Formats: sequence, C-alpha cells, structure tokens
Amino acid sequence: MKFFADTAIVDDLKALDELGLLDGVTTNPTLIAKSGRDFKEVIAEICSLTEGPVSAEVAALDFSGMVAEGECLATLGSNVVVKLPLTLDGLKACRYFSGKAVKTNVTLCFSANQALLAAKAGATYISPFVGRLDDINTDGMELIREIRVIYDNYEFGTEILAASIRSANHVKEAALAGADIATIPPAVIKGLANHVLTAKGLEQFTKDWQATGQSIL
Ligand code: G3P
Repeated sequence: MKFFADTAIVDDLKALDELGLLDGVTTNPTLIAKSGRDFKEVIAEICSLTEGPVSAEVAALDFSGMVAEGECLATLGSNVVVKLPLTLDGLKACRYFSGKAVKTNVTLCFSANQALLAAKAGATYISPFVGRLDDINTDGMELIREIRVIYDNYEFGTEILAASIRSANHVKEAALAGADIATIPPAVIKGLANHVLTAKGLEQFTKDWQATGQSIL
C-alpha cells in the first residue's frame, strides 16, 4: 500500500521523504489554510520535493470554474493531480480531465455509489473519507471494502485512496481492505513504528549490552 502524506507542511514532507515514506501528497483547502502559505506557491514547492502525485483541490463549485482552476493547477508541476469534489459538476470535470490525460482525485466520497460514479468518470484516484464516516457512527472501513469489491468486479483502473485516516488502526484496516493508497497525517505515519514492547525490549538490550563493558567499534 502506498503512503501519501496528508499535509501541506513542507518540513513534515521532507522528514517523511528522508524516511522513504513519501509516495505522494494530498492537500485540500483546509490543509492549505493550516499551512498559512500561498496555495500555488506551496503546491509548486511540494511538487519539486517529491516525484510522487501531489493532489491540489479546486475551489470552484461549477464545471467551468473547476476546469479553469484545474488547468491552472496542472501547470504547477508535472505530478499535480487535480482534486475535484464528488458532485455532478465535479464528475463532469473529472471526465473532461480524464480525456486530457490530466490525473484526477475525486474527493469527499462517502458511499459506494459515489465511488462507482467516479470510476465511470475516469477518476485516477477516489478518496473515501473513513474517519468522517466513523465520526457519525458509520463503519468507514466498510466503505473501502465495498469499493474494493465493486472496482475489482468491473476491473476499474481507479485507485482507492483511503482518506480521513486518523490512527494506526485505520492504516492497518485500510491495508487489510485492499486500499491502493492511504493518505495519512505525518504524525500517524511516524507513529506506526511505535510499540511499547519494542521500546521495552530495546531498553533491556541496551542495559544488558552496557553491562558487558564491550564496544563494537
Ligand atoms: O484528505 C482528506 C483529509 O484531509 C480529511 O481528513 O481528518 O479532516 O476528515 P479529516
């Protein structure tokens, strides 16, 4: 499963890249606002620090506005992916860009039928929001499982990009469900390495090694 970082904070992206854990980046208007930076400037910088796909979301709600904004965003880097909302206008724009060989990420997906529409529109990626479904006492991971079955039934090329990932358990469950990608907050990615028994075992190894009085070098 590919790991995309769900952030527009460049320092966090550089740290993940150094760990070899940066397969791509997703942003959205909220994450851009959190960065405090100019949208087009930060997207261009992110595109320069990774070869992976970088999702940049349109703000327009109408088809023509989405097309104009998406075409502008696509000029910021060869790895830009135009992010479009799962609305009829967004799906129409998705079909437009898929005909232009511009990669698309259809976002704010909350149902299998929505994901089916995105695949039929030629979306490169679909972003089902797991955490936000959990927030309303719905099993967000069940949506990933449903989309996986539907996409495999009809051999759709759209990649499942599990989004709104909030925890290490979400990462594990998304992988078990067969998501192609998970877009994950950097802190959650780094936290995947943590386990209390690993820390405890290393502490004991270190103590016992020090007691030998030896050194390797
Ligand atoms: O990529 C979508 C993600 O940023 C949404 O996450 O936690 O706001 O539901 P969240």
